[in-house]
Amino acid sequence: MKLVEAVLAGAEEAGADTKLIDLCSLSKKYCSACAVCYRTGECVHDDDFGKVYKQIMGSDGIVLGSPVYFGSVTAQMKTMIDRMSDPLHCQLLLGKRVASVSTAGSEGHREVEEYINRILVAMGATTSGAPGPIWRTRRGWKKRWRRPSTWAEPSSGRSRVGRPTPSRRRSTGG
Ligand SMILES: Cc1cc2nc3c(=O)[nH]c(=O)nc-3n(C[C@H](O)[C@H](O)[C@H](O)COP(=O)(O)O)c2cc1C
Repeated sequence: MKLVEAVLAGAEEAGADTKLIDLCSLSKKYCSACAVCYRTGECVHDDDFGKVYKQIMGSDGIVLGSPVYFGSVTAQMKTMIDRMSDPLHCQLLLGKRVASVSTAGSEGHREVEEYINRILVAMGATTSGAPGPIWRTRRGWKKRWRRPSTWAEPSSGRSRVGRPTPSRRRSTGG
């Protein structure tokens, strides 16, 4: 949470309006694989995720953060990702800038950041950075930077696919 707060503080300094959402404080049901969102764009579950989803869709960008739990994201983060099949299938994050951050007891933060970024890119978003590994040494904090393979090239700035049309969504109905 502190890492996400630090990223948001940086974004605010640069002039962004930010909102911090703690997934752990929200009630979210699991995706039930009903595929209704494929046809309608709406999830059948009426819970806190609906509000989060509206905030994501109304934003210019998002930062997702997760500690490493057994080599992966937390259950809360995975539950949210699973509820985002519609943005994945229709590339609804097109035009949004996104970043991911992760903390670990020892390792796995790189994999978690890359996993989150890969999912967000698949949803149409453009990754725009992450702090990369930050290590605590005797002399203080030390940052090591490397562009993860899933990041978009800075010059690309555009998704490889077009914005879905309403007809595409209607045509997937059963
Ligand atoms: C259920 C659980 C699983 C965890 N699994 C891992 C893991 O696989 N690898 C790892 O490096 N740290 C793991 N951790 C440690 C957390 O990633 C770590 O506590 C978290 O990033 C917060 O770090 P901090 O306490 O230094 O702020 C796990 C912690 C919990 C509670």
